[in-house]
Amino acid sequence: MAHPPRDLTEISFAVRFFTLRTEFVSSWPEERRGMFLTLQDVEAGLRATGYIADSIATTTVYLAARLQKPLLLEGPAGSGKTQLAYAVADAAGTTVERLQCYEGINEEKAIGKFDEPLQRLCVELKTKSSGVDWESLQTELHSQQFFSAGSLLRALQCEKPCVLLIDELDKVDHAFEALLLELLSVWQLSIPKLGTIKAKSIPFVVLTSNEERRIGDPLRRRSFYLRVEHPTAEREAEIVALRTPDSSHEFHAGMAGLAKALRGWSLEKPPSVSEILDLAQALKVLGAERVTAEMRDVLLPLLAKTEADRRKLLLRDGFASLVYDAQQYSADTLRGSVA
Ligand SMILES: Nc1ncnc2c1ncn2[C@@H]1O[C@H](COP(=O)(O)OP(=O)(O)O)[C@@H](O)[C@H]1O
Ligand SMILES: [Mg+2]
Repeated sequence: MAHPPRDLTEISFAVRFFTLRTEFVSSWPEERRGMFLTLQDVEAGLRATGYIADSIATTTVYLAARLQKPLLLEGPAGSGKTQLAYAVADAAGTTVERLQCYEGINEEKAIGKFDEPLQRLCVELKTKSSGVDWESLQTELHSQQFFSAGSLLRALQCEKPCVLLIDELDKVDHAFEALLLELLSVWQLSIPKLGTIKAKSIPFVVLTSNEERRIGDPLRRRSFYLRVEHPTAEREAEIVALRTPDSSHEFHAGMAGLAKALRGWSLEKPPSVSEILDLAQALKVLGAERVTAEMRDVLLPLLAKTEADRRKLLLRDGFASLVYDAQQYSADTLRGSVA
């Protein structure tokens, strides 16, 4: 038998928690409340920018925006991670500050540095006039006027929250991750000689990784984690349709079917969404409505990007059976879109 008093306590606790949570969020000042007011804003916004996301991705973006959590996107190259950051910015009507990571990236690149030629010029000009006050000149030279900001600092200085895209974070070392940790926890940057710069607005942070190196747990703890995998055939057909709107349903499903077949072929480097989009454009240029076994030699440079993969698709009947698989998958996709 149920225990009514306990159930009621649980319900009342849940309602109270929800009310408190809602009150807490809505008590934030407007500029801190994030970029989207409703989940529907995210769904409609992303779609309007031409980004096809599933419901998990849209909900995670929504929650990350509302709770001002960084979003860590991991998955294979070309699966739409960078594009998602741009789509979020577009949907929210804001700008992107992008930090493209690379091996050896340093604080100067990310945060900025003093513009030394400008400082020198200023000193030259000032020393020409008599009565230079060295102390005030020194203060002036170490002000923001003479500091050329990198993308991390620019993102904090935006009046309205922007999207801060820290792209391909797996290329940096642990020291650089630690710098980001500080930024993401206190939303301020301490710069020698310049001082501490506090955020004017809190950006929507997107961290992306192609998983060449494992991102540390402290950054993972602070972020919401979204895997961006190759899309399902239905979603890939939609993505292709957005890029080649003049083609038929069969064509879009055909591209998605071929993508699925290629990815099931245990290739060294399976094709990404962006490569399937290239293939669709190439077929348009060639005036072809679908891929046939006879097109193998023409299409191989677009589909097989390593010598091992090329050999695999060149094997006797290799390409023909790939095309056969692709046709089965595209028929499934078409049936799915009709159902
Ligand atoms: N879900 C999607 N909706 C629309 N276009 C997509 C999607 N996923 C990938 N793309 C396309 O693939 C291209 C490559 O994606 P990109 O974001 O550069 O990949 P990644 O950053 O994961 O390497 C994008 O320019 C975009 O055209
Ligand atoms: Mg990218």
